[in-house]
Amino acid sequence: MSMIIANWKMHGDALELRSWMAQVSAKMAQKSSQIEVIFCPPAVFLSEAKSLLGDNKTLLLGAQDCHHESCGAFTGDISADMLKKSGADYIIIGHSERRLLHGETSEIIAKKCNQVQLVGVIPVVCVGESESERAAGNAESVVKSQLVESLKHITRPCIIAYEPVWAIGSGSTPKLEEIAQMHRYIKSLCDQMQLTRDRATRVVYGGSVNAQNAASILALPEVDGALIGSASVKAESFCEIIEVAQLLTLNRAVTSHAASV
Ligand code: PGA
Repeated sequence: MSMIIANWKMHGDALELRSWMAQVSAKMAQKSSQIEVIFCPPAVFLSEAKSLLGDNKTLLLGAQDCHHESCGAFTGDISADMLKKSGADYIIIGHSERRLLHGETSEIIAKKCNQVQLVGVIPVVCVGESESERAAGNAESVVKSQLVESLKHITRPCIIAYEPVWAIGSGSTPKLEEIAQMHRYIKSLCDQMQLTRDRATRVVYGGSVNAQNAASILALPEVDGALIGSASVKAESFCEIIEVAQLLTLNRAVTSHAASV
């Protein structure tokens, strides 16, 4: 099942939230295809998003970060449990904007993952190399150390987002074969760490995904979905990506049915 994650980052207001959720829910209801959409608005909108959803399960909710302790004197921070109680089923951890702009190390990220797991929420753990690390041929070793260190407390399935730092918000993406290769590599590491796919750990791609390139990226068998920033903020462009993911999922279902008869 393809998983499409909308990361609004620090964008949006209450009006846009309502209109976005109405449009995206309507889009999801049009086809009964099996894709999951996880909406990660700024944390202040989670409670409202949850009450707008009510019993409607077409969208799941996620938060963009949490603190690595369960409570305490941490002015301005929010715990995983608070986010869960506000409606989050998922929490993004270790986004490169947190690693780079807030100095978060894989050690801190591992503690955050532990908190998220303890409260029964699924972490979406981001890993990815910088441009110079890729140019130096170190993309896999960087991703491996981020993954191994960030996931050291993880014992249950999680989502890994492979997001090359240089692809985020830049309009550039790796070549399709490079995306496929890195996803195969991450999945082999997850197997070694016993976070295997049959225990539902999935690997999604993030970094400049849009309505134009979504079909070719999501069609890669190694890619289980996408984490989308800029192109998720406006409902129109996000709905185009949903359409692409729905069609691919339907086509896959038809092909595998045809192969089984
Ligand atoms: P982008 O962001 O789609 O704008 O590149 C992706 C992300 O940062 O998660």
